[in-house]
Amino acid sequence: MSLCVKLLNASVLMATAAATQYSLAADGNTPHEKAIERGRYLVKIAGCNDCHTPGYPDAGGNIPEKQWLTGSPLGWRGPWGTTYATNLRLYMQGVSEKQWLKTAHTTQYRPPMPWFALRDMSTQDLQAIYRFTRHLGPAGALAPAYVPPNQTPNGPFVAFPQPQK
Ligand code: HEC
Repeated sequence: MSLCVKLLNASVLMATAAATQYSLAADGNTPHEKAIERGRYLVKIAGCNDCHTPGYPDAGGNIPEKQWLTGSPLGWRGPWGTTYATNLRLYMQGVSEKQWLKTAHTTQYRPPMPWFALRDMSTQDLQAIYRFTRHLGPAGALAPAYVPPNQTPNGPFVAFPQPQK
């Protein structure tokens, strides 16, 4: 075989591999890019930013994407103790997509985290949130640690009514 034919074969092989890997959709976006776009949409409309992005509700959602999901220093205090919305930009770095799907479908977090929303979310939507958050990359610092019910948190917190004794 001449060198020219060999090179031609090699480039055909490479083109086939690329097409299989990315299988371009009609609009030119790869499935991975589509998942990222879907994740961006879900994080906005499913409320994740409301708690996991500092200042998001106060700013009417007008917070640059690079600050999204970096966790919040605002505590949520109730009979469960005081919880803080996790820095999901760091959290997602520590879990594989497979682990995330399993965890999201099975874990009950403390209030006010709507864990039941994650439980009921489709695998495809959870995947989209994961890919979008990973696409944003790690940023920010860890949110404050959980404080048990009998301790007063140091920073600002929202207090839920205590149950009647
Ligand atoms: C009403 C506020 C609120 C909303 C809305 C919310 N979260 Fe949370 N989230 C929290 C709080 C508070 C915690 C910490 C719970 C705890 O300490 O058990 C948390 C914890 C988590 C955790 C656990 C991380 C860890 O450290 O193990 C994940 C994952 C998560 N949230 C994802 C999401 C996603 C995805 C959305 C959007 C669908 C969302 N959250 C919406 C408040 C919220």
